[in-house]
Amino acid sequence: MHAFSLDGQHIAITGAGGGIGSAAARIASELGARISATDLRAPALDGVQGAGHQASALDVADQNAVEEWLSGLGDFDALIDCAAICPFTDWDNQGWNQEAERLFQVNMLGPMNLVRAAMPRLKARGKGSIALVGSIAGRIGGVRAAPHYAMSKGGIHALVRWASTRMAPSCTINAVAPGPVDTPMTRGESYDASGFPMQRMATADEIAGPLVFLVSPAASYINGAVLDINGALHFS
Ligand SMILES: NC(=O)c1ccc[n+]([C@@H]2O[C@H](COP(=O)([O-])OP(=O)(O)OC[C@H]3O[C@@H](n4cnc5c(N)ncnc54)[C@H](O)[C@@H]3O)[C@@H](O)[C@H]2O)c1
Repeated sequence: MHAFSLDGQHIAITGAGGGIGSAAARIASELGARISATDLRAPALDGVQGAGHQASALDVADQNAVEEWLSGLGDFDALIDCAAICPFTDWDNQGWNQEAERLFQVNMLGPMNLVRAAMPRLKARGKGSIALVGSIAGRIGGVRAAPHYAMSKGGIHALVRWASTRMAPSCTINAVAPGPVDTPMTRGESYDASGFPMQRMATADEIAGPLVFLVSPAASYINGAVLDINGALHFS
């Protein structure tokens, strides 16, 4: 099999109704994977090629639901977690504390629930990989990000480092750390991309492609990496 092919692989994707998650599902299917996609509501699987895919509803903050979802999938080869929320509110805003609590549940407990459930299953099979989505917010506090979001993304980078030595030697875990991406998450927020080195935001495909690469056989020795995809906005 070609190292970039995902032929015969079964890939679980969360947040697959969103910009980056739906692009990851489409790209992985184009490379031959069978997709099990979830989001808060069962995602539409727009543009996903081939047969045998499934879509269901899942709140990643619910540990029991995450366990149930992964155990119901049977054997899977990789997990890509794209589920997150990104309120652009500072802590002076009314209701911020409750919002922060929910954000930590989704953006930090969510990945933790998923890694905790997926790791033993992949390790038992002796192969497999996980890809998470961090952010430039976790590197430098973000471009427009709020404090709770920046903290949560830094937490994902740390989780990848922690889990990578435990996934080894047979399995891997990595993340991407995107700069601003044009998706439903950022629409309505004003970014002055004319000042970016690339003079534009990233597209969802420009993040989803590297995410899919990270769970492909081509990335078999990449473990514990947080890959910056920010068009030269920041070097870590
Ligand atoms: N768009 C950007 O500028 C940007 C930059 C850096 C990182 N990211 C990260 O990329 C990932 C994908 O974001 P996106 O830009 O595609 O945003 P998006 O809003 O289009 O997609 C996020 C998806 O997560 C889902 N979701 C939210 N809460 C959930 C929950 N509790 N359980 C399950 N699903 C839930 C949403 O319904 C949505 O479909 C996120 O981790 C985000 O933080 C985005």
